[in-house]
Amino acid sequence: MNNSTLPQGVTTETISLRLGHPDPATLGTPDFQEAVQRVMASPQAAHALAYGNEQGSMDLIAYLVERINREQHLALGMENVVITAGSTNATDMIARLYTQPGDAVIVEAPSYMDSMHVLRDHRVALYSVLMDAEGMIASELETLLKRLRAENVRVPLLYTIPNFHNPTGITTSAARRKAIITLAREYGLLIVEDDVYRDLAFEAAVPPSYLALAGSEQVIQIGSVSKTIAPGLRVGWMVTSPQRVQRFVDCGTTQMGGGASPLAAQFVAAYCKAGSWDSHLEHIRQLYRARRDALLVALDRYMPPEVTWTHPLGGFFVWLTLPEGMNGAAIKRTAAERGVLVASGEGFFTQPEAYPNHLRLTYSFAALEDIDKAVRILGEVIGSVQNTNP
Ligand SMILES: Cc1ncc(COP(=O)(O)O)c(C=O)c1O
Repeated sequence: MNNSTLPQGVTTETISLRLGHPDPATLGTPDFQEAVQRVMASPQAAHALAYGNEQGSMDLIAYLVERINREQHLALGMENVVITAGSTNATDMIARLYTQPGDAVIVEAPSYMDSMHVLRDHRVALYSVLMDAEGMIASELETLLKRLRAENVRVPLLYTIPNFHNPTGITTSAARRKAIITLAREYGLLIVEDDVYRDLAFEAAVPPSYLALAGSEQVIQIGSVSKTIAPGLRVGWMVTSPQRVQRFVDCGTTQMGGGASPLAAQFVAAYCKAGSWDSHLEHIRQLYRARRDALLVALDRYMPPEVTWTHPLGGFFVWLTLPEGMNGAAIKRTAAERGVLVASGEGFFTQPEAYPNHLRLTYSFAALEDIDKAVRILGEVIGSVQNTNP
């Protein structure tokens, strides 16, 4: 790989633990190229190149319905799924159709910064609820909901990342999901379950989804191929009630654009129906699990004892908590000068100034053999700051 093919800010001389991207070497596999060729050589090619069906590629929807029903023990139909241009487009559509400016939307503290950005674009007020090792703390959510109700603030949505959360790597426990659903019912919240990492479980199956626990009237589940096939395809989907699917289908951009990413969705359908996604998932789970293991071993070896971190069971991320008073953004800058890129944590919070002492480390992007070196350098940087501010 040369510098011109790398994402912005990353060079061949740096090691990136910063980007939440899949390993570029996993993109565009021979199986995927064959699926593309099959679509382009078929009589359906002209159809796939035209404006699409508003709900999205029916081939892909049929595949997804079967898969979702099998994996999540559901009995959904084609009318429960709509294709989107990735998860981000789904979040944007949900905010556009289900919030009004000034509404409150609840997110985890911390949460995925680009979703917070999308939600803010719709001029909603974001309120966040701290997480512990089991996910969003239900008692804190209840306190917040009581307060907002007393203030007469409308709260249409709760946005959550239940599996291998970005940025913490935490998976919300089944008990916590149930407690959150009870509150969502009591306070009339629609749960937006952004589940883009669910297929990257390294150890055991993920807990039952919000969709399975609460049903499609209460939940919009979002999926995407960005983390496990290729983000450049811009293919994702929403699973929810038929009435909501119809509302997404009827909205202006879907009608005018002829549905989302019709050609890319057709490529994905051909790839998945041939069984290639499942074999690719086997491969990348092993790849990322080995890197997760290497990162955790290196953290044990090189981090000062005052630093703590999460132990993700899948996905891309480990979340570091630095000693009180240490500044993650300063650590990030010094590490970058030494060729190691990490994300500092404050941008993942609705109140960044209150949470200066975190880092997010990603293990999906760096080569296995670079991880030990990167964490050694990061440990030295943190140790040297500790020594100058004892
Ligand atoms: C939680 C979460 N949702 C959505 C996305 C983006 O997904 P997409 O490429 O499908 O828009 C990411 C990517 O980092 C993510 O971490």
